[in-house]
Amino acid sequence: MNTRFEPSGPLRGRLRVPADKSISHRAAIVAAMASEPVRIRNYLHASDTSSTLAAVRELGSIVQAGRDEVVIRGVGLRHAQIPPARIDVGNAGTLMRLLPGWLAMQQDKAFKLDGDESIRRRPVDRIAEPLELMGARIEAREGRFPPFTVHGAPLIGIEYRLPVASAQVKSCVLLAGLATDGTTVIEPTPTRDHTERLLVRAGAPLQREGDAEAGFQTSVGNADELELDEIAVSGDLSSAAFLITAGVLVNGSRLVLEDVGVNWTRAGFLRILERMGAIVLGDVEPIGSFGPAEPVCDLDVSHGPIEGTVVEPQEVPLAIDELPLVALLGCFAEGDTVVRGAGELRVKESDRIATVVEGLRGLGAEIEASADGFVVRGTGGLRGGRLHAHGDHRLALLGAVAGLASTEGVEVVGMEAADVSYPDFAADLAALLS
Ligand code: S3P
Repeated sequence: MNTRFEPSGPLRGRLRVPADKSISHRAAIVAAMASEPVRIRNYLHASDTSSTLAAVRELGSIVQAGRDEVVIRGVGLRHAQIPPARIDVGNAGTLMRLLPGWLAMQQDKAFKLDGDESIRRRPVDRIAEPLELMGARIEAREGRFPPFTVHGAPLIGIEYRLPVASAQVKSCVLLAGLATDGTTVIEPTPTRDHTERLLVRAGAPLQREGDAEAGFQTSVGNADELELDEIAVSGDLSSAAFLITAGVLVNGSRLVLEDVGVNWTRAGFLRILERMGAIVLGDVEPIGSFGPAEPVCDLDVSHGPIEGTVVEPQEVPLAIDELPLVALLGCFAEGDTVVRGAGELRVKESDRIATVVEGLRGLGAEIEASADGFVVRGTGGLRGGRLHAHGDHRLALLGAVAGLASTEGVEVVGMEAADVSYPDFAADLAALLS
């Protein structure tokens, strides 16, 4: 589907952005592992998180999915059922990497996982390595790609230092750690901590040490059961980021986004924007905080001039999914914008260094790729043209926002990719432009 986004007038008004994708995936998985029914309010209804509901159903949970509330009656920690066919994770990397943490503890059972074309290019050796150290066995295509099979086993505790700063890998090991007599994950650079917060709420024995600068060590111990009645999912800052960027870039805009999740481990983009001089007001969680709750606030966004900035490696995991937008903002900034230490972008839904650089260049941007990031020369604007989404939701949405702020408009090729995280984007945009 090709969709044109014309240069727009100001974006104005108040809006609730879609529910958080990361938290929705975790809520469904933890609910499936729980012994009592869990009500999930504000679950994200999008294709990625529908894959997760389908997966937990296949594993034996009863799922009642209503518009405002999803109720999951789980099977308990150690009683996942063997599905009749392979589990289809669709496009969802988070599902593909978190679920095996639970499956690994299902003794003497095997589970096959597969997904779409993009998923088949995404590595799973990063979870296979720790799970095998714990005693499970993973068989993957070429040793590292889907489809792959998780053979459950009795698990032993490990101390695991993350070789890549990845919340997905950390979460996988912590979930598996619930069936060991003690497992510790050491992360030199902090990553999003939604799994930890949810496990604490579910009564899991979880301790965390360290700080934002030195990194954290998180330990879990053996759990007999998980229990929590209700989870309320925050608004997704990663989806909000597209409207925030449009608000900052489009002349005369002023918008308020309600109840957006502002957990500090997700809010790196807001701190980068602040350095760029953008006006985005809100009560963001202080760096280093930890607790069972997921903080939310309203974000008040105004159009204004911005300047270039440098994003350093330690900031990258806290803004990983918003870095394509940092590149777009850089085109409009005064001076250069540099992102380094973001090699992980190459193994997202697309190679986001290559696709962002190619996409924005095609719209007139002065942007260069490096091995682990990019450099953008701010020219104060963007001409427009055509951008291919390459099946990547964040790229499709990037193209849309670029179009609104451009001088000639942007045609996005493959706009349907946005359904993975933000199916109502067009309607939300129309509401802000009316
Ligand atoms: C996610 C973690 C990030 C992020 C992805 C969602 C999560 O991936 O890019 O969109 O929900 O844990 P990594 O943990 O692999 O960096």
